[in-house]
Amino acid sequence: MANRGHFSSKFGFIAAAAGSAVGLGNIWKFPFEVGQGGGALFLIIYLIFCFVLCYPILITEISIGRKSEKSAAVAFDQLGYKKWTFLGKLGVLCGVMILSFYNVVAGWVFGYFVEIVKGNFDIGNEFGAFTTNIWRTGIYSIAFLVFTTIIVSQGITKGIEKASKILMPVLIGIILLLVFYAFTLPNSGAGVEYYLVPDFSKLSLQVVYKALGQSFFSLSLGLGALITYGSYLERHENIVFSGALITLADVGIAFLAGLMIFPFVFYQGIDPEGGAALIFQTMPGIFESMGSFWGIFIGGLFFLLLSFAALTSTISLLELPVAYFVDQKKWKRKRAVWVSGLIIFLLGVPSLLGNGYSAFFTEFITYFGTDSPRDYMTFIGDVFIDTLLPLGGFLTAIFAIHVWKKGNLVSELSDGADNFAGSWLNTYIIFSLKYIAPVILGAIFIFTVLEKFFSISIL
Ligand code: PHE
Repeated sequence: MANRGHFSSKFGFIAAAAGSAVGLGNIWKFPFEVGQGGGALFLIIYLIFCFVLCYPILITEISIGRKSEKSAAVAFDQLGYKKWTFLGKLGVLCGVMILSFYNVVAGWVFGYFVEIVKGNFDIGNEFGAFTTNIWRTGIYSIAFLVFTTIIVSQGITKGIEKASKILMPVLIGIILLLVFYAFTLPNSGAGVEYYLVPDFSKLSLQVVYKALGQSFFSLSLGLGALITYGSYLERHENIVFSGALITLADVGIAFLAGLMIFPFVFYQGIDPEGGAALIFQTMPGIFESMGSFWGIFIGGLFFLLLSFAALTSTISLLELPVAYFVDQKKWKRKRAVWVSGLIIFLLGVPSLLGNGYSAFFTEFITYFGTDSPRDYMTFIGDVFIDTLLPLGGFLTAIFAIHVWKKGNLVSELSDGADNFAGSWLNTYIIFSLKYIAPVILGAIFIFTVLEKFFSISIL
């Protein structure tokens, strides 16, 4: 299609999509969710969801994007199903709300980079003081959003692809290095055991839906981010194979992040259930133990690369509303980028205030029948990640099988994957979309909404 940016190579697409997937979700959120979800059990459920459910939905999203050559909000209309545009628009809304808080956490990461480079390893014990200093964290998060906006305003190949291609491989290198270091520390075995040996008595609906939300979030699924990236993909690229690589890269990095963090957590005697603070409390002390030169060097690099990983994700989140304005409202890219950026910043202010600074946003909401109030950021995660992303995946599966029809999906997936049609993988993908996704996602959605927001437990 004329005037539409395209990824210039297969690797470019994979790097950008994997860049979207790999981010704070893998290295900040995944470990603390594992910690709160009881360790290895969470890991196992997460892995099952990623491969059994998410991978089929992931390649479906990419196919919808490539076929329609339109971003999430417009794709369904373009394929001829106007009634389904609500799904794309819901995705854009999720993208905006997720980015509004994601960007705040990215600001913290960037702030930690600055502190570590200054040699301030004590910052690990000062997380609370750090997040309540909202002027400082505010500036960091504005800076972060400005970086994102600048890259997204450059368009597809120049900005997004280039940044991802360079940064992703370096990040994997440094995490591997830290995993090796983790194994040399005393008591690291206890961390590995916690992470890899499941305790089935911890099984609960909460663990299941948290793992589900995490698998969608981590793979950037359920909100059309990959429809949008797919729309920039050339025909004849192998979606089935690229999708598998993206899934493996994302899951692999999350797995490594856990393998790195838990030995560190147990070595330092930190509570693995510490929540969102976990990596911020854990990592500075580890860098300190490397001595000041290596600590500053490796620690600085770690937080810098984590900032970049976050950046390749914020880019894809910002691309959602931007592509909506460009494709649907025919705005110029630059205007779309800056307007979206401003809205997202404003929507992020409560997240900035809700980590100790303002009592109102820190104790923002108490769900029906519970007694502990949740902060604003947790609330946004509960609604937009744990509830709406799986719902988006559910609707995408229904759309693909019953509306678009499996013949169209399979023919799109086969374009570039010669032996796909009729293969066992084909049978499996369709089975998953047709039966597993609606049943599992539908059931978990209903149980979760009832239990989480209304304290009605059925299971
Ligand atoms: N997958 C990203 C991460 O793990 C977050 C993200 C979610 C990005 C949804 C785009 C869309 O950090």
